[in-house]
Amino acid sequence: MEKVQAGILGLGVSLPQKILTNKDLEKKVDTTDEWIRARTGIKERRIASPEETTLSLAEKAGREAMTNAGISAEELDLIVVATVTPDMVFPATACLLQDALNAPDAAAFDLEAGCSGFVYGLTLAAQFINNGSYKNILVIGAEVLSRITDWEDRNTCVLFGDGAGAAVMGPVDHGGFLGFEMGSDGGGGEFLKMPAGGGAIPPTIESVEQRLHYIKMDGNQVFKFAVKAMVRSAKKVAAKANIAIEDIDLFIPHQANIRIIESSAKRLRIPEEKVFMNLEKYGNTSAASIPIAFYEAWKEGRIDKGDRVLLVGFGAGLTWGSCIVEWTG
Ligand code: UT7
Repeated sequence: MEKVQAGILGLGVSLPQKILTNKDLEKKVDTTDEWIRARTGIKERRIASPEETTLSLAEKAGREAMTNAGISAEELDLIVVATVTPDMVFPATACLLQDALNAPDAAAFDLEAGCSGFVYGLTLAAQFINNGSYKNILVIGAEVLSRITDWEDRNTCVLFGDGAGAAVMGPVDHGGFLGFEMGSDGGGGEFLKMPAGGGAIPPTIESVEQRLHYIKMDGNQVFKFAVKAMVRSAKKVAAKANIAIEDIDLFIPHQANIRIIESSAKRLRIPEEKVFMNLEKYGNTSAASIPIAFYEAWKEGRIDKGDRVLLVGFGAGLTWGSCIVEWTG
């Protein structure tokens, strides 16, 4: 069977209207705008309204990606939603989305790989397209992290935001998805987790009182892991795709912390002008961060036809994942 080349046909995005600035956070916890900007690079983040959910953000981003791709919901074969904040534990948010979009022929499931989820999703979609079993696949990273953020914990509440980004993948003549590298280290799972709400610690009055339904993070451990994983994974995917790092036109890393991004770019010898960052506006939106950044880079004219874009994610699991996509325009 001949390999079908997979590529990105269209991108979409959805961001809540409400902006929460560092100054606003100064009123909630013992922090300062200066500390947050210096230690993370974040200035503000978006917060979902009570009516907005991962599903509603995913639907808006997904619809825009389909419009930009020129693909209708009837043509979708698969919907993958990468998220750590699904509307419910089950059914999958992707199934709710399949109904909302009215995509009769689409299989649908959620993918949970923390902030690496979107790269995992693109990689998975590429395999189905490569082997000819599916044609058009909607991959979305969507989160309402504000719902699992402990607004009394200054170590974490300054970092996260809400939003969604989407891509339609389908067959392309040349270029497109050129390679991937993924990995995990479950031993580091304890450094970034939401302990309760699953089968191990179901919701009880005690679990709520102990604030176990919120994000818990050892920031220093995750920081060290992040730089190592980004650098190693970027080098591996470049080698697998037979592309030199200097031939990468744009590096779009997971938008968690400016210091992680700058340190990784420096070690990879990727110059500043080839690194895309928008974390000052949105903070860390987990699985949504890479597709939102990808969309903005495209909208800002930072990506031309034939450009090779390196996407690198890392996050809860611990997980990491990289892929190189040649923009087909
Ligand atoms: O998607 C993946 C998810 N997570 C990440 O990528 C996070 C990776 N880690 C990080 O980005 C950084 O570790 C943080 C931004 C979370 C923390 O930055 P840091 O430079 O590693 O600071 P730290 O944790 O070593 O804390 C330094 C000091 C501490 O005070 P003491 O013990 O030195 O007195 C903290 O209590 O800063 C204090 N601190 C704060 N001060 C003001 C921690 N959070 C805040 C805050 N405002 N919001």
